[in-house]
Amino acid sequence: MSSQRQEAVRRPAAPDIHARKGQTPIVCLTAYTAPVAELLDEHCDLLLVGDSVGMVVHGLPNTVGVTLEMMILHGQAVMRGSRKAMVVVDMPFGSYEGSAEAAYANAARLMKETGCQAVKVESGPTVVDTIDYLVKRGIPVMGHVGLRPQSTLVDGAFKARGKTSEERARILEEARLTTEAGAFAVVVEGVAEGLAREITETISAPTIGIGASAGCDGQILVTDDMLGLFDWTPKFVRRYADLRGEIGKAVAAYAEDVRARRFPGPAEIYFAKAG
Ligand code: KIV
Repeated sequence: MSSQRQEAVRRPAAPDIHARKGQTPIVCLTAYTAPVAELLDEHCDLLLVGDSVGMVVHGLPNTVGVTLEMMILHGQAVMRGSRKAMVVVDMPFGSYEGSAEAAYANAARLMKETGCQAVKVESGPTVVDTIDYLVKRGIPVMGHVGLRPQSTLVDGAFKARGKTSEERARILEEARLTTEAGAFAVVVEGVAEGLAREITETISAPTIGIGASAGCDGQILVTDDMLGLFDWTPKFVRRYADLRGEIGKAVAAYAEDVRARRFPGPAEIYFAKAG
């Protein structure tokens, strides 16, 4: 992609997304590769290079094994494949929790080496000060409350949060503190009915829901889930395609053609020049 073409379109920046609070819902999807980013770019306001890449692309059991280097490589690919959407890259487990200084060094590296417009961190009581530290030093941050995949080893399984009044109050408070620390938007993942709407009505930053009801300022899904690439999808996912079925049929047809010597055919081979 030429730099001229890149300059022709300005991607939304953190303040543009922040200003979308209460407006037309913000459309977000995850992306990990250049060709998929290119397909999503036209339709999405924001592409998240989620650390879900560990499970979706690399076959890891959870997001804990994802490294900064993996996020940089996938962030670079998504930036190359897109030109219009805002690109946000997840900070992986272990890259921001230790200290605000270490978080800054890692976030700055992600931003410099990928060219992305912001980073995302999973918010919690200890991370709020880090968000404040990063934002004050020029790094736009998206927060993430509710079900936090990086903390499932401590918090328990991948299941909806905020089912008790205590947990609801804690998540609402985390969302409020995350926003006060300067996050330009907050992902609300896997929370019980009504809580996302309450968070949306309480905080000044837009909420981006995943398994959190329509009571949010925007929505995000893991692209591979909504395209039907897995045989199991969580309850909150709507499958817009059955790519797993389509790929299975296509590969079976190819295998049959190869075994029956029907592929390649005359249209798929090179001929020598006459004479
Ligand atoms: O890693 C990811 O894909 C995410 C989304 C599920 C919001 O954090």
